[in-house]
Amino acid sequence: MQDSILVTGVSSGIGLTTAKYLLDRGFHVYGSVRGDAGAGELAEKPGFTALQFDVRDRDAIRAGIQRILADGNRLVGLVNNAGVAITGPVETVSEVEYRRQFEVNVFGLVAVCQEALPLLHATKEAGFEPRIVNIGSVSGYLTSPFTTIYSASKFAVEALTDGLRRELLPFGIDVISVAPGPVKTPIWKKGREQKEAFQNNRYSEMLDKLDPYTEAAEADGVEPEVVAAAIYEALTAKDPQPAVLVMKKGWMAKLLKLTPKRFQDRFFVKRLAENRRY
Ligand SMILES: NC(=O)c1ccc[n+]([C@@H]2O[C@H](COP(=O)([O-])OP(=O)(O)OC[C@H]3O[C@@H](n4cnc5c(N)ncnc54)[C@H](OP(=O)(O)O)[C@@H]3O)[C@@H](O)[C@H]2O)c1
Repeated sequence: MQDSILVTGVSSGIGLTTAKYLLDRGFHVYGSVRGDAGAGELAEKPGFTALQFDVRDRDAIRAGIQRILADGNRLVGLVNNAGVAITGPVETVSEVEYRRQFEVNVFGLVAVCQEALPLLHATKEAGFEPRIVNIGSVSGYLTSPFTTIYSASKFAVEALTDGLRRELLPFGIDVISVAPGPVKTPIWKKGREQKEAFQNNRYSEMLDKLDPYTEAAEADGVEPEVVAAAIYEALTAKDPQPAVLVMKKGWMAKLLKLTPKRFQDRFFVKRLAENRRY
């Protein structure tokens, strides 16, 4: 029987890097992918098993969990990483997109937790220390304009993390948020491709500012390995912090959160004008 960790969304970015990081450290990794090509280079790695599911598909999640059960591996960790970042003004973002934001980042996370928890309880009952790590974001601490819906979903992830941790405290399952600032992953390019909400409306001219702003944020981001290391720490440290912010100048984001909202408003407007994210 091997210690295993389920990581959702391992086709690219933080999920892919985390899967490799955990494999290198001896864990069996179950990684969720969508589509046949999803596992890519991971498919060849010993100790990796791809589970095919979209976090919006409860039956498919359940089938993935059944596979872990059938293999007989001990599930010691769940990393809720799968996510999308919808860009656009709240006034114009389509209903399909704002619902997708919450379906994936929030309700998908709840569904995966619900399906995986029986295995995590069994792990605890067998004398081990199972953990859930939710991938939040600095956008779950502070809200930048035009990623407001994304930010709302990540604020929800923080609330779910705190509430779930308190609910699971008596059962000995720890729940931790690892919240990155900007990280160099494909999520930024996917965001820049979402232009519909800015087209033919009063926000159109914002696009000229927004693209350089997100490009600058991505260029200044950390490598995904830095986040993978923080996730590993959250999964394995003796006494982990319940909320970890992983970003350059994280102190600045924490300080900004303490300032008056009107000050924050001016800060974000100025930063947007200067193509500088916090
Ligand atoms: N990059 C950053 O700067 C940053 C900062 C803070 C937080 N984060 C968070 O980090 C997490 C990973 O993002 P990333 O930056 O690594 O982006 P990414 O490279 O775009 O990876 C996102 C992963 O989520 C998967 N996914 C998307 N929708 C899904 C669905 N409905 N069901 C299952 N899987 C789905 C994607 O799979 P497909 O390939 O099948 O779409 C992909 O594997 C997200 O939760 C994101 O919000 C990222």
